[in-house]
Amino acid sequence: MRRRRIEALMGDIVTPRFVLKPITRWQMARLQHRYLKDDGIRALLTLHRKPPSLWRSFRRIGRANGRTRFHHAIVDRTTKAVIGTHSTRLIPFRTAGFEVILGERAWWGRDVVPEVRKALIIVLVRQAGLEQMLSLVHSRNFGSVLNYGKLGFEHVGASPMAAYDEFRDEPADFLVFSLRGDALRRSVDAWEKEGALVAA
Ligand SMILES: CC(C)(COP(=O)(O)OP(=O)(O)OC[C@H]1O[C@@H](n2cnc3c(N)ncnc32)[C@H](O)[C@@H]1OP(=O)(O)O)[C@@H](O)C(=O)NCCC(=O)NCCS
Repeated sequence: MRRRRIEALMGDIVTPRFVLKPITRWQMARLQHRYLKDDGIRALLTLHRKPPSLWRSFRRIGRANGRTRFHHAIVDRTTKAVIGTHSTRLIPFRTAGFEVILGERAWWGRDVVPEVRKALIIVLVRQAGLEQMLSLVHSRNFGSVLNYGKLGFEHVGASPMAAYDEFRDEPADFLVFSLRGDALRRSVDAWEKEGALVAA
């Protein structure tokens, strides 16, 4: 069955401090190629010691097709600078998965991820009818794990030895976090009330 286009994810998604701006696969690849030169970012995300080539960065990323895969640049509304990237992948059944990179390290520790995810999840639930947010994260990626906690995600499982961590030279376990059902509905209601999604 061909999935329908989700127009709401093809336009700007605005939060109090940021705009999620739709970008193409190549724009995403160029940004990620730059960000993945940072050892600290690779140690959390790809777990590869060697920075990827531009072509490999491109291959890592699927095409933004307007139906199941969406790429956004995270833009600071004040300076208009791009500070990171965000990808959303839709999978059966009515589920979305995420990947974020805050390439500009000055923004780490400033609650960017909870802010942009709240607005994005409101759109995914209200405009795309999704029923579950599901993410896999490296068990040692504490920033990410804590971010899922801040958004009310529940730890629902693990994928042991899902990748090899070249930085620690050992297999890496991944944890699965989910937000769905009543918890998802309550969160979306509360985030709408607090103004997490700003009219574009
Ligand atoms: C993941 C990432 C976006 C998190 O950045 P961030 O949202 O600014 O996260 P923070 O630095 O605020 O960390 C979140 C929390 O974890 C805590 N934390 C972060 N690293 C930690 C560590 N090594 N040990 C203990 N706590 C840690 C922070 O103190 C913060 O807690 P607080 O809000 O109570 O102070 C950023 O690290 C990044 O871009 N990493 C590379 C890509 C990546 O890993 N993406 C996620 C996989 S999809």
